Amino acid sequence: MAHFKEISPNAPMGEKLLNWVDNRFPASKLYKEHLSEYYAPKNFNFWYFFGSLAMLVLVIQIVTGIFLVMHYKPEASMAFASVEYIMRDVPWGWLIRYMHSTGASAFFVVVYMHMFRGLIYGSYRQPRELVWIFGCTIFLCLMAEAFMGYLLPWGQMSYWGAQVIVNLFSAVPFIGPDLALLIRGDFVVGDATLNRFFSFHVIAVPLVLVGLVAAHIIALHEVGSNNPDGVEIKANKDANGIPLDGIPFHPYYTVHDIYGVGVFLMVFCSIIFFAPELGGYFLEYNNFIPADPLKTPAHIAPVWYFTPFYSMLRAITSEMVNVLILIVLGSAAWVALKTHLSTVLKTVAVLAAGIVCAMMFSIDAKFWGVVVMGGAVVILFFLPWLDHCEVKSIRYKPEWHKIMYGIFVINFVVLAYLGVQPPSAIGERVSQVGTLFYFGFFLLMPWWSKMGQTKAVPERVVFQAH
Ligand code: HEM
Repeated sequence: MAHFKEISPNAPMGEKLLNWVDNRFPASKLYKEHLSEYYAPKNFNFWYFFGSLAMLVLVIQIVTGIFLVMHYKPEASMAFASVEYIMRDVPWGWLIRYMHSTGASAFFVVVYMHMFRGLIYGSYRQPRELVWIFGCTIFLCLMAEAFMGYLLPWGQMSYWGAQVIVNLFSAVPFIGPDLALLIRGDFVVGDATLNRFFSFHVIAVPLVLVGLVAAHIIALHEVGSNNPDGVEIKANKDANGIPLDGIPFHPYYTVHDIYGVGVFLMVFCSIIFFAPELGGYFLEYNNFIPADPLKTPAHIAPVWYFTPFYSMLRAITSEMVNVLILIVLGSAAWVALKTHLSTVLKTVAVLAAGIVCAMMFSIDAKFWGVVVMGGAVVILFFLPWLDHCEVKSIRYKPEWHKIMYGIFVINFVVLAYLGVQPPSAIGERVSQVGTLFYFGFFLLMPWWSKMGQTKAVPERVVFQAH
């Protein structure tokens, strides 16, 4: 065949086989493009371990999930007992189950670190907007995946957690009750809910996740990786077109990432073998009690990785809605009086604010809680267009920006802590302030990110050989 590449008949068997494959499938091309000739910046640091770790955890979850499904029964009367059976009678079943339950929390630890890296080094900015958007979509899917998986052991917390969250959808005006019914498949969480959550958890969402991760990596490799200096390495190339500050991903970063995997597995295994419940944070104590639709637990809290968002949901009381109305009105007044927009745009803004305020007045605070909780994730998608700082990396931003990012992290942790605590008056106030800060951080970013004196960004990346 004319378009087939010929190689010497005396070539070794392996080479001949590869040539045969390459003539039919781009094996060598893919290997080169994504590994041996993918040039990554040479100054990656600790924060760059978490992308490959996220892929590792994804694989762990899929493989352990396959084995769990062999013994698990998605049936309301059998689900809880089948998990106990896996834990006690299936050979190595306890290990598989603990790997999967610990893997869920590990996934969020790793992904939160990975997202934070993107935040501090401005990895979401041009030309990596799509890498970030695929990432945010992955995060949304991951939340859906974890939420549905949590119902499967059919413990008290699985049952009541799902009940609380699905009921939130009924707060949506007009379609709410029907929407909640559609999600549950029944008037209360029941066998139908378990079956549909099982189906989504084991196949639908993982398929989407795997596809999105592929898109995430393809998009990243199209534009190239960012780095802790936020310097584009493609701006400085040698005569062969190879970035001067780039090193081939394989072998340099494959070996580097294996080191990260080693450290990660030490922590992961320590938890699995010595503290799989992690003090009730990874496996909640109430979930060792079978689901009882007639007995509501005194305190219902989601797993730790949802609690920052859960706190924001609880922060939206009717009193807080009034504060939000004032903020919307204040913003509209500012647009009308202080900006140089055309009169038409100003009128549209004021009208829109009026409509939003009227809706806020008339619709229950519970709904706005749901909007705020969802908005806290949705706002992340817009980050590439909110950050207007001249420089990408935190290294060259004004000093006080570092304090802003520091407060952002502390605020997120405080919200997470409050979300696991039973409701209290002081907790409510603190989470209201925390919610305002969270949204203020992003919504006011177009202004504050431009303020202050940035430092000079070097031409080339900063790298000290170790
Ligand atoms: C299953 C989850 C995920 C997997 C497997 C994954 C995988 C990866 C990998 C392997 C890389 C390249 C290595 C690295 O830079 O660390 C990467 C880069 C990146 N990821 Fe993810 N990721 C995931 C979730 C996310 C999420 C949730 C976000 C943000 C919302 C995100 C944003 C980014 C960005 C911005 C980069 C480029 C970083 C840079 O070049 O500085 N990823 N991801």
